[in-house]
Amino acid sequence: MDLMERIEKKRARVGVIGLGYVGLPLGVEFCRAGFAVTGFEVDARRVDEINAGRSYIGDVSDYTMRELAASKRLRATTNFDELAQMDTISICVPTPLRKTRDPDMAFIIGALDQIRPRLRAGQLIVLESTTYPGTTEELVQPKLEESGLKAGRDFFLAFSPERVDPGNATYTTRNIPKVVGGITPRCTEHAAALYGQCVERVVPVSTSRVAEMVKLLENTFRSVNIGLVNELALMCHHLDVDVWEVIEAAASKPFGFMAFYPGPGLGGHCIPIDPLYLSWKARAHGFEPRFIELAAHVNERMPEYILELINSALNRQSKSIRNSRIHILGVAYKRGVSDCRESPAIAVMKLLQGRGAKLSYSDPYVPEVKEEALDLVSAPVRDAVGEADCVVILTDHGDFDYAHVAGAARSIVDARNAMRGVPGEHITRL
Ligand SMILES: NC(=O)c1ccc[n+]([C@@H]2O[C@H](COP(=O)([O-])OP(=O)(O)OC[C@H]3O[C@@H](n4cnc5c(N)ncnc54)[C@H](O)[C@@H]3O)[C@@H](O)[C@H]2O)c1
Repeated sequence: MDLMERIEKKRARVGVIGLGYVGLPLGVEFCRAGFAVTGFEVDARRVDEINAGRSYIGDVSDYTMRELAASKRLRATTNFDELAQMDTISICVPTPLRKTRDPDMAFIIGALDQIRPRLRAGQLIVLESTTYPGTTEELVQPKLEESGLKAGRDFFLAFSPERVDPGNATYTTRNIPKVVGGITPRCTEHAAALYGQCVERVVPVSTSRVAEMVKLLENTFRSVNIGLVNELALMCHHLDVDVWEVIEAAASKPFGFMAFYPGPGLGGHCIPIDPLYLSWKARAHGFEPRFIELAAHVNERMPEYILELINSALNRQSKSIRNSRIHILGVAYKRGVSDCRESPAIAVMKLLQGRGAKLSYSDPYVPEVKEEALDLVSAPVRDAVGEADCVVILTDHGDFDYAHVAGAARSIVDARNAMRGVPGEHITRL
């Protein structure tokens, strides 16, 4: 039976490398579609959790994991020799930045080093990690071809960007259309056939390079628009205009406008990082991408602006940041998730700590924060809000009781418009 037939009959053995926010929900969808799935992870604790039927990712329930573990359709392993038995392998490892803000390809290279000695004819390899245009052809293909097998002839190779939005209950791995671009048309066909079994809609594109660029356009679009609206917030402050009211009214236009909201900065593993993959690659080709850099500059300045707002809020009480009790509401990078990667709240907290503030925080999703000199555990909101000199809303989790906060806090800096409609001189709004 060839690979296409195996995919169509759901007999293909599906492998997923990297079982995080992207890889675990993807593996679950492949299982739901009827495939036997093996997850490959370097983190042995994650492997144990999966095999015991427990979830460590918010979007996947323990119930689902128990069911899949019991049915033996989903298994995880640290034994990469089993890659040889897979018919398809989707790579979902991290793509961070180095300290120098260049792409860090070490995780992708690590995964390729695991695949190469086990690669066999007829397999389909799909890279899902967000990366710069050209990665599949310029990095993945040559590394895998060191095996002696040729991509497009002996094995299939494609790129398919992951677009999952953690915490989004409406759009999940299953109903977010999946863009697929292979290094040959047959590679595209095979990858499209595989994903077509587990997601509602597949969008084939002509090359892997186009598929890589699609993801970077999407995330750059967000970063630039958030940068624009953050700058607008600063401008509105100077002009004494309520930026939130402006955005809400502008959003009444049924075409040609899409609402983005200001905030304390960008967070998560995607939006602050991915556009810099693109600008790095563009620069390597002699092109200076100005929008990306400008948006990054504006967005990265936001934590300092929040610090200025806290400073003014305290000044109104004749206090300084030093020795003031400042309580942060929400440290995850966005509402409803526990992910603190690149969270602007952490950046604000580090700035406050550097200025000598007595810091505390509440976040129902994040029990503790340990980052450089920050070493804090989440405090109960009810006690902390009344005791603080200033309460700073950095992530507007739906779980907070904002009416209580509005009544109990002496002074509030609201970076998320959580206090919309609440009157009071004690509220400083972004
Ligand atoms: N998190 C998101 O919202 C999101 C959305 C779309 C795309 N992406 C992209 O998807 C990719 C993965 O992101 P994530 O958020 O799932 O990361 P993650 O850190 O949550 O998960 C990655 C997993 O890969 C494992 N890993 C690392 N190297 C490995 C190796 N060589 N072999 C096996 N396992 C390995 C890690 O232990 C970890 O469990 C990134 O490129 C990211 O930019 C993320």
